Amino acid sequence: MSRKAMCAVPPMGWNSWNTFTEFINEALIKETVDAMKEQGLLEAGYEYVVIDDCWSLKERDHKGKLVEDPGKFPNGMKALSDYIHEKGFKFGMYSCCGTRTCAGYPGSFEHEFEDAEQFAEWGVDYLKYDNCFRPQNQDGKTLYRRMGAALANSGRDIVFSACQWGTESVHEWIRSTGAHLFRSTEDIRDSWNSIKDIALSQMDKQGFSGPYCHNDMDMLVVGMHGKGGNEYIAAGGCTDEEYQTHFALWVMMNSPLMIGCDVRNLSEETKKILLNRDLIAINQDTECRSPFQINCLSNSPEVFTLVKFLSNGDMAVALFNMGDVPAMVTVDFWDIGITAASGKGLEFYDCMEHRNIGVKKEIYSEKVASHGAKVYRCKVV
Ligand code: GLA
Repeated sequence: MSRKAMCAVPPMGWNSWNTFTEFINEALIKETVDAMKEQGLLEAGYEYVVIDDCWSLKERDHKGKLVEDPGKFPNGMKALSDYIHEKGFKFGMYSCCGTRTCAGYPGSFEHEFEDAEQFAEWGVDYLKYDNCFRPQNQDGKTLYRRMGAALANSGRDIVFSACQWGTESVHEWIRSTGAHLFRSTEDIRDSWNSIKDIALSQMDKQGFSGPYCHNDMDMLVVGMHGKGGNEYIAAGGCTDEEYQTHFALWVMMNSPLMIGCDVRNLSEETKKILLNRDLIAINQDTECRSPFQINCLSNSPEVFTLVKFLSNGDMAVALFNMGDVPAMVTVDFWDIGITAASGKGLEFYDCMEHRNIGVKKEIYSEKVASHGAKVYRCKVV
């Protein structure tokens, strides 16, 4: 059987964990699907609807199979999967490479092939595969290889989302396991410090992410405003400007864009961030070029520019101020490869305001608010 090449670009969708943790059920997932469709999220590219941990019974059945919790999913996973597919979405589920999931439900250790077949039967298109309760002396490489092999031979095209948290130098070997994305950090929290720590921790790992295997910096907290599913996730929330910067970072760093807020109640500001087509186009650019970082000598390391070369010759130029005071950010086009001697300039299109701001030569400077970002799509002219 021929298998489709999946995840040429980072996947986009929604995941239940950040807001709902264990409080998931069929009605919630259906309402989420309906809301995503109505608000234009599907059309914008958010196609995977992923049910995270806590969906099953606490024990396997007598045949060793995973069983969906009938209290939460009274019509079973296949019926829910059909509903999700009828609405035009793809269906994602969750398991773990250890004996138990992180929340204590059965994991897939030594059940990899049967579970992969079960997921295929339910019509699953995406499996998030966590890293808890690994038996001693089992290294991550072999455990992720097992599920990689099982999914690739399950008879269905299933995206393999390795949730490995960035331990064991995962970026160096995860591509070889068949994974299409790999979590590279600990769990995100709905706070500015968490966003900042995650982004800065991945700056030197950009070269390891690319088509068919993307660095997953975790689900978005955009729009959560402190409504996390547990205290650890809730963490006080962020301002809309911080959420905008968070989104811009995940876009520029080619992370999957998995929404983590309650999409049934989106504010206008949240919609504006999540539905920004100009930013999504940068994240979904077919070549998935790693961004490079430019620091300006006068600024602290918290103030920098990321530049990403796009497949049509344009460049995404993003100015970030992760610091706590406003800062001037200066980009010298020399660092991008556009010298004064070339006679070339850059035509700047503002991806947040959606307008052209004109042609600039040699240098671009702008004051960026603290915790703020500006993203431009530039054409060489
Ligand atoms: C781990 C993962 C999270 C989430 C929880 C579920 O912490 O990193 O993303 O899936 O498990 O228990």
